[in-house]
Amino acid sequence: MEGEAASLAPEEKRIWQALIARRRGDDTPLPVPASPEASVLLDLYGPVCQVPRGRPFALAHLGQSLDGRIATNSGASRWLTGEADLLHTHRLRALADAVLVGAGTVRHDDPQLTVRRCTGANPVRVVIDAERRLPPGHRVFQDGAAPTLVLAAADVARSGERLGEAEIMALPRDRDGGLAPAAIRAALAARGLSFLFVEGGGVTISRFLAAGALDRLQLTVAPLLLGSGRPSLALPEIAELREGLRPRMRRFSLGADMLYESILHE
Ligand SMILES: NC(=O)c1ccc[n+]([C@@H]2O[C@H](COP(=O)([O-])OP(=O)(O)OC[C@H]3O[C@@H](n4cnc5c(N)ncnc54)[C@H](OP(=O)(O)O)[C@@H]3O)[C@@H](O)[C@H]2O)c1
Repeated sequence: MEGEAASLAPEEKRIWQALIARRRGDDTPLPVPASPEASVLLDLYGPVCQVPRGRPFALAHLGQSLDGRIATNSGASRWLTGEADLLHTHRLRALADAVLVGAGTVRHDDPQLTVRRCTGANPVRVVIDAERRLPPGHRVFQDGAAPTLVLAAADVARSGERLGEAEIMALPRDRDGGLAPAAIRAALAARGLSFLFVEGGGVTISRFLAAGALDRLQLTVAPLLLGSGRPSLALPEIAELREGLRPRMRRFSLGADMLYESILHE
């Protein structure tokens, strides 16, 4: 735990422990918050912690600039959003059964995808690499910090093969040649991984969103203009504004950043 212990008040720590316990199936009523900070914690994480264990649920999160970029064109994205959003990302990992990223994120960031800034267990790590292009040297495939799955197309891989320490799961291609988000969710749910946190990048989350495979989408917007770089969301083109999505929204301040949560399925 690197960031949370020093900065959190005892009440917030207590509430975080209660939220984690709720996710594990403890149905003791959540504490009544006394401070505004504790109240925000309950407000932000309470709804996802109330999702019954075993019910399929997918939440995606991206940190982006004001002009909708998640990284520079060369792939630099650390740290686009601030400390509070970083802690938030670790909390989402701690609440989820599985954290999923696309091959681009592993290629550029070599992330660990573990819980280090708050208390909580590491989720199962899942990487989509349909073509099996990633080499075995990346940290998620070598460090053994949590079970790790690589989702690959069934014509280039067989289930049960290994990539470093990770296990390959072969899935059929969809009509576009990729892996269908609904099939990914079903395959993970069949392994007991029902709460899925889709951590990025933009291409992966856009595919889940376009397929209607997300229950919640969180965009944390940093007060920063990049003017170029990798896009956050990119969906099939529409002609009329009314064709855009207008979900119910919730907003939270995260330090200097603003988190916008879209509730796509109630
Ligand atoms: N700001 C943030 O919150 C944040 C979060 C995460 C990452 N990032 C940054 O974002 C950048 C990477 O994002 P990105 O959008 O370029 O890439 P990405 O979403 O990480 O990975 C996209 C790639 O993953 C594979 N993939 C994803 N979904 C698939 C599907 N349904 N079926 C088949 N293949 C699928 C494809 O790999 P192939 O093309 O190889 O087949 C695809 O090109 C990095 O620079 C990283 O630093 C930022």
